[in-house]
Amino acid sequence: MKKHFIFFSSILLMAACVSTKVLTPTQADADRLKTKYPNLTLADLNEGKALYEKHCQSCHKLYRPNSRNEQKWNEIVPPMVKKVNRKGEVLDNRAQELILQYVVTMHDAKSARKK
Ligand code: HEC
Repeated sequence: MKKHFIFFSSILLMAACVSTKVLTPTQADADRLKTKYPNLTLADLNEGKALYEKHCQSCHKLYRPNSRNEQKWNEIVPPMVKKVNRKGEVLDNRAQELILQYVVTMHDAKSARKK
């Protein structure tokens, strides 16, 4: 019985991991944050998303941008980037900035708020 439980739990866990998706930014998102990040482009947001997905889910699930507020993201991303780099991957300041801009921009995206 116990073995079955562990087996099914791990299947569920795998399914949960695979289904983690984060929002794809749109031009409206880039425009929305123009006052905060004047040079922000849609390409930057997409690059931030790609970096986030590539580097930020090897130790834990990908946290949804709307799961944290802006202040929290500002506190969390720099130490997490250090963790990534300690694993031998290299995220420079620009990459850190792109990841931060992506999560901060998307944390209150309209589509994110609905959920
Ligand atoms: C080397 C493993 C590792 C990598 C890579 C990693 N994390 Fe983490 N992350 C952790 C651990 C461990 C915790 C829980 C304890 C802590 O906060 O240090 C955590 C916690 C978090 C939390 C929740 C913290 C809170 O206080 O709510 C967020 C959000 C997060 N990580 C985001 C990221 C982001 C963004 C990246 C990519 C830049 C990233 N993580 C990459 C190990 C990692």
